[in-house]
Amino acid sequence: MAVPFFDIQYNLDLATKKSLLGRWENILNHGGFVNGPEVRELEAALAEFLDIPHVVCCSNGSDALVLALRAAGVGPGDEVLVPAFTFFASAGAVSRCGAKPVFVDIDPDTYLISAEDAASKVTAATKAVMVVHLYGMPADIPALEKVINAAAGREIAVVEDAAQAVGATHPDGVVGGMGTSAGWSCFPTKNLGSPGDAGFATAANEEVAERMRRLREHGGGRQYYHDEVGYNFRMDSLQAAGLLEFLPRLVEFNGVRRNSAEHYSELFTAAGLAGKHLTLPINTPGHVYHQYVIRTDKRDDLMAFLRARDIGCAVYYPLSLHLQPCYQDLGGQLGDLPESERATEQVLALPIYPGVTFDHREELVSAVAEFFGV
Ligand SMILES: Cc1ncc(COP(=O)(O)O)c(C=O)c1O
Repeated sequence: MAVPFFDIQYNLDLATKKSLLGRWENILNHGGFVNGPEVRELEAALAEFLDIPHVVCCSNGSDALVLALRAAGVGPGDEVLVPAFTFFASAGAVSRCGAKPVFVDIDPDTYLISAEDAASKVTAATKAVMVVHLYGMPADIPALEKVINAAAGREIAVVEDAAQAVGATHPDGVVGGMGTSAGWSCFPTKNLGSPGDAGFATAANEEVAERMRRLREHGGGRQYYHDEVGYNFRMDSLQAAGLLEFLPRLVEFNGVRRNSAEHYSELFTAAGLAGKHLTLPINTPGHVYHQYVIRTDKRDDLMAFLRARDIGCAVYYPLSLHLQPCYQDLGGQLGDLPESERATEQVLALPIYPGVTFDHREELVSAVAEFFGV
């Protein structure tokens, strides 16, 4: 049986398609294609859903991070602590603000930024720390802040990359609402995926949100008057309508992802693979499993074996950011960030989108057992 890695049809049953087409027809009729009424409606709906006062919808998650960083005061001459093991946009956004990403190693158990390594890299130029809720796992921001602020002797802004964590929760605060600001992605494969590129930035503070709104439209509060140089990061109304259509099912789908993750872990454990041949992800409360990621030192062979059987799997991410060609001028070398580097060689993401079935998971786990000869 083929096991697809991702199939968008899980979210596009006939009733949903019909309803979405109705929303899109409405947009064709009112003609407000960019930043239209659907965008306002979506901002209100997301603010309520996330329990964060201010939501600024924009073009995509990468641009949302630029808004979040600039509104937190990041600019030329600043350093931002960024985990080296994440999607490129977490660091790319820092560079796009004219600041310097300072790469930090990860905690090998959670794949999240290491508080200790971050604290050791604080300098007088450190303006912010980018915390990535990688794979949908909520990071412990209050604990991280304590360690970093103690090392700095002042308050360091926290900017959250919540691109993979829509709907994730943390016992000590709201994911995306614990830092100064946050950027979120609605790329189609994300937990809250749009039928195209889209994203949003959030902030608890009204002034920070107002700056993000201005920056989204070329830095102007009034049309054709510009207080600072911003961007065109507006959201299309068609995307907002799609997200309004999909948002009501997000809690259900995040629940399906969690159940699927728990089932995988049960199957791997029952097969005698967990701990011996594979390391399973830690199941923290509030995790929304944008990805279910196992690790093994036979990763590349296992991936080839599964793909030869039409079983989807993928590597997020194959190269630590301090080793990316575009960051060689920062002087990063192999061996600098051992946990990030090790993760790039060992991680393997398995199908976890809400269309994955009980049979898919059994098929996959029995193929993995066959690979390891158990
Ligand atoms: C961790 C992380 N940050 C940022 C982004 C950027 O989002 P987008 O693709 O919407 O620009 C993504 C999406 O791929 C991501 O996974």
